[in-house]
Amino acid sequence: MDNTILIGFMGCGKSTVGIRLSYRMRRAMEDTDKLIEKDEGRSIAEIFRTDGEAYFRQLETECLKKLLKTTNRQIISVGGGLPIREENHALLKKLGTVIYLRAEAETIYGRVKHDTTRPLLQCEDPLERIREMMEKRAPIYEKTADIVIDVDKKDFETILCEITQAIGA
Ligand code: S3P
Repeated sequence: MDNTILIGFMGCGKSTVGIRLSYRMRRAMEDTDKLIEKDEGRSIAEIFRTDGEAYFRQLETECLKKLLKTTNRQIISVGGGLPIREENHALLKKLGTVIYLRAEAETIYGRVKHDTTRPLLQCEDPLERIREMMEKRAPIYEKTADIVIDVDKKDFETILCEITQAIGA
């Protein structure tokens, strides 16, 4: 299928880049976190709190399967942990071209340090947690991606130009 999928760590800019890309390419945009919140009628934080992370991960896989049936020629931003589940890898590949927005841990920390909506970063030392998670996740993001875009210290316009060039849009 011909979707453009944005993956990467929390706070790497998937949602903002996705919205801008959808305007630029005149394509609709979907966001797995938002779809899940809408379907469940509650926030991600609430889902984690009441039913735990494993339940949320199951919802992510179901969301991908639904998107495979309903979505083509769209921009899709996915939650930071979604590509980590082995089963989701093939589903992402089937959906379209996967773009990894790669950022340093410090960049991520700068963007999410005041955020209370991401349950996995509500801890004593979020920067250390980001570093640990990133070490595990980065190789998986890289393996899943067709295209890698480094986003550190770049404005959104530059990032957008690099993406549209890379996908020939
Ligand atoms: C998560 C990332 C979040 C959200 C949930 C778990 C993760 O999405 O799905 O809090 O495991 O990295 P964003 O990447 O959009 O913040």
